[in-house]
Amino acid sequence: MSLVITGIGELTTHADEEPRDGPFAVVVEGDRVAWTGRARDAPPADTAVDVDGRAVLPGWVDSHTHLVFAGDRGEEFGQRVAGRPYKPGGIQTTVDATRAAPDADLAARLRRHVDEAARQGTTCLETKTGYGLTVADEVRAARIAAGTTGVDEVTFLGAHLTPTGTTTPDYLDLVCGPMLVAVAGHVRWIDVFCEDGAFDADAAARVLAAGAARGLGGRVHGNQLGPGPGVAVAVAGGAASVDHATHLTDDDVEALAASDTVATLLPACDLSTGQPPPPARRLVDAGATVALASNANPGSCYTTSMALCVALAVLRSGLSVPEAIRAATLGGARALRRDDVGHLRVGARADLHVLDAPTVVHLAQRPGVPLTAAVWRAGRRVP
Ligand code: NIG
Repeated sequence: MSLVITGIGELTTHADEEPRDGPFAVVVEGDRVAWTGRARDAPPADTAVDVDGRAVLPGWVDSHTHLVFAGDRGEEFGQRVAGRPYKPGGIQTTVDATRAAPDADLAARLRRHVDEAARQGTTCLETKTGYGLTVADEVRAARIAAGTTGVDEVTFLGAHLTPTGTTTPDYLDLVCGPMLVAVAGHVRWIDVFCEDGAFDADAAARVLAAGAARGLGGRVHGNQLGPGPGVAVAVAGGAASVDHATHLTDDDVEALAASDTVATLLPACDLSTGQPPPPARRLVDAGATVALASNANPGSCYTTSMALCVALAVLRSGLSVPEAIRAATLGGARALRRDDVGHLRVGARADLHVLDAPTVVHLAQRPGVPLTAAVWRAGRRVP
C-alpha cells in the first residue's frame, strides 16, 4: 500500500538539500519513505492525505528514557521545588516500588508512557532497565521493554546505583558478571551512572568493558550534577553517547568534538532539577554531535515531551530552531547508531510528524502548546 501526504507547507527531511518551492509531498510505500518533493510532481499513490499547509518533519528520536518503573515521586518533587537538591539516592525509592510491582503493572505503565510519547511525535524510543538492581528484576525489566511495541532500543543500566543491602564492590561484581550474562540477550546497550553518589570512573570503565565483551554498545550518564569524569570515560571507552553532559570543562568539549561519542543533552531534566541549561551552543560550535532527549523518568524529569526539550534548547541553550530539531531527530539517531530514523530521505523508516503549525519555528515560539497534528510510525498512523 502507498500513501501520499500532500499539501505540506514546510518540509524538513535532513537530505543534503531540502526541497524548495512548496507545497511539498511525501510518498510512503509500506513502512518506508519512497519519494519527497514538490506536491505537483508527486507520483500517484493508493491513498492521499492533505495536511493543508502544515509543517512536516521526521518523528522525534528519544534516545534516553527510563520508563520501566512503578511508584510515584511526587513527594520528592515537592521537596525539590521547596529547595531540597536532587540526589541520586532517590532512585532507591523507585527501585523498591518497581520490585514490588507485578509484571502486568510494569508493562501497562510502560505502554501508557510509550503511547503518550508517540502521540507527541516520538517515533523512535530508547528505554532502560535500572530500577530492578537484582538479576531477576533487571532481566524482567529488559524483557518487558524488549517486548513492548514502540520501544526500539533497550539499555541495561544495572549500574544505576548500588542498592541498599550490598556494597559497591560486591554489586559491581554482580553487574559485570551474572547480571550482565542474564540480561545480555534482551538488550543492545549497557549504561553506567558515573557521578558522585553513584559510580566512579574506574567502575564506569569496567562496566563499559564488560558490556563490550558481551557485544553491547556503551552509554554513560555523566556530568549531570557537577563536573566529573563521565565524558572522559565515555570517550575513552568508545561509548556511543554520554548523556546529561551539563557540567563540562573545555577539555570535555574538545574530547567530545574529536570523538564519535554523541553528547546527549537532557534540558528538561536540568530544568526540573535546578541545574544550569546544558551547554548546547558550546558543543555545536566546537563541532561535537549533539542529541536532545527527554530523560523521561519518575525522579529527575517526569516528562515525555520532546517538543519541550526543543523549546528549552532554543530558549535557554542558544540553539537555532533547525539545530534543535536536528539534535532531537538525527542527533538521537546518531546516539543510537541508527541510519534508518531521524530523517525523511528516501529509504528511511516512514516516521513522520505533522505539526499543527505552518513552520517548525512554532515549536520554540509556542512552548507548552501541544502542536502535534498527526504522526506516522513505520508508515502506520499513530492513533
Ligand atoms: O538520568 N542520572 C541517573 N538516572 C536518572 C534519574 C533517575 C531517578 O532519579 O530516578 C537520570 O536523571
